[in-house]
Amino acid sequence: MKNDLWVEKYRPTTIADVIGNEEAKTLFVEWLENKRPTKKAVLLYGPAGVGKTTLVNVAGNEYKFRIIEMNASDTRSEKAINRVATPATSFTGLDKFSSEIKGNLLFLDEVDGIAGNEDRGGVNAIIKIIENTHTPIVMAANDIDIEKLRPLKKLCVLIKFQQTRIPLIIMSLKRICEQENITYEFEALEKIAINSQGDVRSAINDLQGLSEEGRTLTEQDTLALGHRNKDISMYDTLKNYFAAKNTVEATNILSYSTVECDDLLMSIGDNMSKRYTDPTKLAEAYNYLSLSDVFRGRVGTENWHLLKYVYNNLAQAAIVDPESYKPFELVTPPIRVITLFWTKPKRTLLTNICTKIGTQCHTSKHEAKMLFIPYLRLMLQQKKNTSTLIKWLKLTPEEVTFLTGLKMF
Ligand SMILES: Nc1ncnc2c1ncn2[C@@H]1O[C@H](COP(=O)(O)OP(=O)(O)O)[C@@H](O)[C@H]1O
Ligand SMILES: [Mg+2]
Repeated sequence: MKNDLWVEKYRPTTIADVIGNEEAKTLFVEWLENKRPTKKAVLLYGPAGVGKTTLVNVAGNEYKFRIIEMNASDTRSEKAINRVATPATSFTGLDKFSSEIKGNLLFLDEVDGIAGNEDRGGVNAIIKIIENTHTPIVMAANDIDIEKLRPLKKLCVLIKFQQTRIPLIIMSLKRICEQENITYEFEALEKIAINSQGDVRSAINDLQGLSEEGRTLTEQDTLALGHRNKDISMYDTLKNYFAAKNTVEATNILSYSTVECDDLLMSIGDNMSKRYTDPTKLAEAYNYLSLSDVFRGRVGTENWHLLKYVYNNLAQAAIVDPESYKPFELVTPPIRVITLFWTKPKRTLLTNICTKIGTQCHTSKHEAKMLFIPYLRLMLQQKKNTSTLIKWLKLTPEEVTFLTGLKMF
């Protein structure tokens, strides 16, 4: 939908286009070429936005591998991994006889995601595959100092990426400006590059957010950047989101936010009527929000490629009527029940209850949270014939107490 994002438009297409991290690049290419006997799996790690994902894809293509990619954390249950990875790693097929394709290359991106709260056997599944296959396996991650990844790290060649050097980022911003016909003050590019802290993706996003056709990008413009803070809270996310002037800006805000997608959808919904006072605009914004929610539902546990539509629609909802923006008082956290429970143990408790509801009522956890919990709470509070219900949902006494005590408003 939104391929006018410069990070996509200017995504490198050859190994040479990937700037910086020369040593890491060389090591990876040597590993791909299989120059010396080495481990079957490789793990690229380091900060976000330096080109790890891109390098695997372009180098894989240049060396004529068929890349079979799995990304995002939730596909990492043992079942999901085996469904994709086992066929990818077990058939040699006719590829051996083809000069065009060398064979499969399994790429598991963002493997730090597997080591989340629920370990559903993902790490072990990967280890088994590495031990039993000849297919090259590439993984990438930001953070590998996670206990659960330890056994996996032992089986991999580890290749470290660092922040991309500022002068290289400046050069790449310059090239983009030239191609987009943007005139600029050198200091502006310098500021954007420094502010990015070596994250090429953010630098390009910021450049796009700040530049306008037919106007020179000045150092003054970059003052709007502020200091990059990757840990953007709910309050700041909402504040900036509702003030966004275009989709690029809205997309940037959403991508830097650390707020969970579901919480974000809910909070945006709660604040929408304050943002748009014109009913027609409000309806339009809700329409985008509901599309976003529909995609969120379809993402489920495997279709992570749909996540971009969740965010695209959410970004559209922010800019239905940019002219009408006036600062307003935000409702945070949302008025509804769930997000009152920010604390971890309570949230885990709630998630468990939602899973149980989901199993019995054939509904998603999200729906269980939104539609079932309020009624369940009322029923339990009224204490009429609740024992059958409790038994049917297999609720523990602790869960019952939690639900009865739930304050909703
Ligand atoms: N080293 C780089 N050279 C050129 N562009 C880069 C580089 N690193 C990141 N980018 C830009 O940022 C985008 C995201 O990069 P990506 O490979 O996903 O980073 P990572 O996987 O390290 O987080 C790319 O589409 C590209 O536009
Ligand atoms: Mg990546």
